[in-house]
Amino acid sequence: MGPGDVPPRLSAQAAGQQGYFGDSNMQLEVIILAAGQGTRMKSKLPKVLHPLAGRPMLEHVIQAALGLEPTALHVVIGHGFEAVATALAAYPVNWVVQAQQLGTGHGVLQALPAVAEDSTVLVLYGDVPLIGHDTLRSLVTLAAEGPALLTAEVARPAGYGRILRDDFGALVAVVEHRDASAAQRAIHEINTGLLAAPARDLLAYLPRVGNENAQGEYYLPDVLSLAVAEGRAVATCRADSEMEVLGVNDQQQLNQVEREYQRRQAEALMRAGVALADAGRIDIRGTLRCGVDVRIDVNVVFEGEVSLGDDVVIGPNCVLRDVTVAAGTTVHAMSHLQEAEIGPGCSVGPFARLRPGTRLAARARVGNFVETKNADIGQGSKVNHLTYIGDCDMGPGVNIGAGTITCNYDGVNKHRTDIGAGVFVGSNSTLVAPLRIGDGGFVAAGSTVTRAVDQDELAVSRARQRNIQGWRRPGKKQAED
Ligand code: UD1
Ligand code: MG
Repeated sequence: MGPGDVPPRLSAQAAGQQGYFGDSNMQLEVIILAAGQGTRMKSKLPKVLHPLAGRPMLEHVIQAALGLEPTALHVVIGHGFEAVATALAAYPVNWVVQAQQLGTGHGVLQALPAVAEDSTVLVLYGDVPLIGHDTLRSLVTLAAEGPALLTAEVARPAGYGRILRDDFGALVAVVEHRDASAAQRAIHEINTGLLAAPARDLLAYLPRVGNENAQGEYYLPDVLSLAVAEGRAVATCRADSEMEVLGVNDQQQLNQVEREYQRRQAEALMRAGVALADAGRIDIRGTLRCGVDVRIDVNVVFEGEVSLGDDVVIGPNCVLRDVTVAAGTTVHAMSHLQEAEIGPGCSVGPFARLRPGTRLAARARVGNFVETKNADIGQGSKVNHLTYIGDCDMGPGVNIGAGTITCNYDGVNKHRTDIGAGVFVGSNSTLVAPLRIGDGGFVAAGSTVTRAVDQDELAVSRARQRNIQGWRRPGKKQAED
């Protein structure tokens, strides 16, 4: 956005009909800090674009923010800002570019001009993606009258800002690890970085925050000590778990967050009645919907939108991306399915590759080393071995022999093969599209079929066999001398 542009306002609340959590006097705005480089990721990709469960880390945070139904969402970006804003362009975000990263306080300050003065502001981090809705709600609720901070008790506090409290337990300040004394470093209660405050407080205190500290940065938590100095109280609440507030700085932490996310999904599936061979060996990068009595073997990856009907069985080492599988179907080991619709009672694989546009009617069978693409396989039809079926409409009750190829591509255009009901195609046949084989048609094994086969006709297109009697096998050449 350029200067002077109006940031997008979100939902009906923007019209002032309703504030956050149903309170008509309150407007919630969220600022997500996501400008940091993420040097320790050792990657060309901006840190917040690294995928968690197949989607950018920042997208998870944006969704957590939108779950609170804020009136506006501001995301502060810096390193790789074009890539970040492009990747998440679908979201209603006011992108704020922070050209130089001078600290978390400086980051928030960049977004403040776009924030309504009478709103409550929630600050999130783009690299803390597992933060939960309930925790955020509690934090925002605490911030009605003044600043509130989310803290956590952690086993290894090194690197974090520590929470300093007075004798009555009231928060006094946050001291960064690098500015902390040995005694302060012994404190295990840390600043998660996430805080909420009335916009008025941030407007009052943030411009007064200096950068006289070990890192020469403008620290956001310094607004808290400024508030305390004026006799204001800072409310705090604790995160549910250390995991919820784990920040991602390197590949190892990203992996920790990924495994935690996948563990939670596996647990939710099992609670819903899905049988998993190993809860630690399933990855869902998107949405998986399951019917009753679904069984999933080890090392299965689900991507995009996948739905499995009742009694579906997925064998080990399968990948399913944007696929619907109807009730009673089994997908055997090592199969790869993408943008396919599988009917009820089908059998797929092992080693099947179903590419986009594949549709299997009820009880169809696609066996090992079979590739399909843009293909409708009719009810009860069988394509069991070593075959390519592309751009094909196949009726019911068809039997395709091993080694059959639909030649759908002439080097320039794709053509369709239309196979009628009850057709039998013998092994090792080549069906050169465009081609129509009428109902009940029969193709002899080893044929190359280039002309239409009418209903109930037999097509044979191969060299006639000759048997030569008394022929001589070639003998071994004699050496010259
Ligand atoms: C910060 C907190 C620390 C807390 C820790 C929790 C400060 C000064 N310190 O430290 O108390 O324990 O988080 O993880 O706030 N960012 C910007 N612009 C900037 C600087 C940072 O957008 O100018 C973003 C980063 O991309 C990141 C987040 O703010 O998403 C936190 O910044 P980071 O540099 O990681 O802060 P820490 O030193 O970890
Ligand atoms: Mg950090």
